[in-house]
Amino acid sequence: MAGRLIVISNRIPMEKTVSGGLVVALHDALGCAGGIWIGAHPETGVADEAVEELGSSPYRRLAFRLTEDEQANYYLGYANSVLWPLCHRRGDLVEMRSEYEAAYRAVNARVARIVARIAEPDDLIWVHDYHFLPLATELRRLGVSNRIGFFLHIPFPALGDLSVLSQPERFADDLAHYNLIGLQTRGDVARCLEMYRADPRAEFMPDGSIKFRDRVTAIRSFPIGIDTAGFAADASQETVNPFGREEPGRFIIGVDRLDYSKGLPNRFRGFARYLETRPDGARPCLVQIAPPTRQQVRAYQDITRELEEIAGHVNGAFAELNWTPVRYIHRAVPRVELARLYRKASACLVTSFADGMNLVAKEFVAAQDPGNPGVLLLSRFAGAAEDMTEALQINPYDIEDIAAAIGTALEMPLAERLRRHEACLDVVRKTDVAKWSTDFLRVLMTCGASANFRDFE
Ligand code: ADP
Ligand code: F6P
Repeated sequence: MAGRLIVISNRIPMEKTVSGGLVVALHDALGCAGGIWIGAHPETGVADEAVEELGSSPYRRLAFRLTEDEQANYYLGYANSVLWPLCHRRGDLVEMRSEYEAAYRAVNARVARIVARIAEPDDLIWVHDYHFLPLATELRRLGVSNRIGFFLHIPFPALGDLSVLSQPERFADDLAHYNLIGLQTRGDVARCLEMYRADPRAEFMPDGSIKFRDRVTAIRSFPIGIDTAGFAADASQETVNPFGREEPGRFIIGVDRLDYSKGLPNRFRGFARYLETRPDGARPCLVQIAPPTRQQVRAYQDITRELEEIAGHVNGAFAELNWTPVRYIHRAVPRVELARLYRKASACLVTSFADGMNLVAKEFVAAQDPGNPGVLLLSRFAGAAEDMTEALQINPYDIEDIAAAIGTALEMPLAERLRRHEACLDVVRKTDVAKWSTDFLRVLMTCGASANFRDFE
């Protein structure tokens, strides 16, 4: 690669404990490739074009500040109260306000000016996630003709759901300013192509790219992954014991940001239903680690309250003096402890109603003891389910199905656990984070000619 790699995402890591699929994956990818990572500082400030250097090893981190209004209207508002529910099939939670979209466009325009100032002609620019859909539009407007790639970490929305937006046609238009649109799954690519098929401005090229006005954009899936070997090594560190002296015996693990898309209430209900029907003497725990996220948004406050109530009900109904069925921890834990928890668990429950990929599923598989692996129960609506067909796939809307799958997992014979684990591990290895980023960058470096982006607008 001749130039540097410049990565832009809303969130950048500030400390060692990172949660959220995007930050974890990019931290691993940039750790290998080096480059510059530009993102929003967690503290607010003034709307200028200054950036703060946060650290320079093994990659540079530059942070801009959002104002309090931008944090409310761009991040909590347009990104997380419009685009997030829209892409996760929760149109009922979308909150439309004109100031949200105005702030979203203004932040994208300002970040584009910052990037345009930093970028040199040979640099590759890689933009991440729904916070920055229009960033390439703004960069092209400033005359930036570098190759610009975009990766969407969350599900691509269904065509019909886009009508929720005030100007749905801008979604296709903004994305067409990138040279490459990367999506998590083949299903996401199909939905993206459906959007362009329905758009009279788009033309299809023989290689599957789309031509939109005079610009050519490639659309491909790049399933995101983890640092498989690193995670497995952390999981094997026997000196780390996250439970101290409070080992729970057999347990099922859940690890998620406390987001309504993760199906946590149904997970707890499914576990409770299992407890009603479990074999005599079985006293497994559900260890749920769910750090708070986006707590200023009403829908997140509601899910937090709902989950606390359900956890209380389940423990109230089933707990004994020496057994707490649900251990619910409402904070982030260090990665090495997380890896150890996965390894000690008999099963992992992923119940997302919609999920771009779900890295937790991959982490759990990588962390297992290959001679005595636990069982992955995986929602068929998580992106990971497209390739991990040997996980025990579940319907997160169906409490009985979750309960039955928990029973199946906890009683699964070793031979079947081994077979399923080997198949899942093969997928995790073949789609690890290094492959994800090198594949994306290889395609970005070779797709189309960037000349068609010069002199635009
Ligand atoms: P999302 O991107 O929607 O948050 P993913 O499952 O793809 O979902 O990624 C979540 C990432 O955040 C994983 O790497 C996971 O290990 C990490 N994570 C989630 N919860 C915690 C937690 N409580 N402590 C530490 N890391 C966490
Ligand atoms: O992976 C999806 C994602 O939205 C990422 O963009 C983000 O890093 C993560 O979930 C956590 O969300 P937030 O940055 O809003 O805390």
